[in-house]
Amino acid sequence: MPATPLEVENLSAGYGPTRVLEGVSFSVPAGARLAVLGRNGMGKTTLLATLAGQTKHYEGRIRLGSSDVTSLPTAGRAHRGLGYVPQARCIFPTLTVEENLYVGLKGRPKTAIEEAYQMFPRLKERRSNLGSQLSGGEQQMLSTARTILGRPSVLLLDEPLEGLAPIICEELMGAFAELAKTGDMTILLVEQRIQSALDFADRVIILERGRIAWNGAPEALSQDHDTVERLLGVGGLH
Ligand SMILES: Nc1ncnc2c1ncn2[C@@H]1O[C@H](COP(=O)(O)OP(=O)(O)O)[C@@H](O)[C@H]1O
Ligand SMILES: [Mg+2]
Repeated sequence: MPATPLEVENLSAGYGPTRVLEGVSFSVPAGARLAVLGRNGMGKTTLLATLAGQTKHYEGRIRLGSSDVTSLPTAGRAHRGLGYVPQARCIFPTLTVEENLYVGLKGRPKTAIEEAYQMFPRLKERRSNLGSQLSGGEQQMLSTARTILGRPSVLLLDEPLEGLAPIICEELMGAFAELAKTGDMTILLVEQRIQSALDFADRVIILERGRIAWNGAPEALSQDHDTVERLLGVGGLH
C-alpha cells in the first residue's frame, strides 16, 4: 500500500467516562513525518491508541486516505493500512525472533521477513533467540519490524526510544529515517527525546491535557524556547 494522508477532525476520546482527548484536529500529508510531543500524561499514547481504535470514541472523525475509519474496529483499521507499534513492546517471549516476525506477515510469504532483517541486521543475528532473551533495543526493533512487515501506509510509533542506550537510539532513528526516505509510509512518532523527534519530523504537534497546544514546523519549535519550556518542561532540547 502506498503512503496515505491521515486526517483527524475534532477528535474527542478517552476511557469509559474519562475524557482524555478534546477537540483534536490535525492532518498529515501522505509520506510526511509528524512528531507528537508533550509531557507525561498529556494524552500522546491515548491519541495513537485512539487512531488505532483502542479507546472510547466520543466525537470527531478519522480519515485514512479516502476512507473514513472512525467507526471501524482495530482490525479494520489495520486492514486499511494503519500500523501501530504500542509503547509496551508486545512481543511473544516464548517465540523466537523469527517466529515473532511470522506473526506480522499477514499472509505474505515467509521470505518477506528478509525485509525486516535488512532493516535491523541485529534481528537476523538473533533470529533463533527467544523474545525473552532480547535486550530492550532488540525488543523494540522486533516490535517495529513485525508491524512494518504488514506494509502499513500509516505507521504509529509510541516512544520507541524509551529506556534505550544512546547508541541503540541512533540505530533505531537511522532505520526510521531510511523508512521515511522511501516515502511509502506516513509516520507519526511520539517521543520524549525531543531533539531526536525534531531531527526526524517535518511537522510537530504538542499535546497539553488532551488538546493541541502547538502545531508547527520543527525548525520553528527549536527556536521557540518559551514554548519548549512551557509545554515540554525542559530547560532546553535534548
Ligand atoms: N486505560 C486508562 N484508563 C483511564 N485513564 C487512562 C488510561 N490510560 C491513560 N489514562 C489517562 O489518560 C491521560 C493521558 O495518558 P497517556 O495518553 O498515557 O499520556 P502520555 O502518553 O502523553 O504520557 C492520563 O491522565 C492517564 O492517567
Ligand atoms: Mg505514553
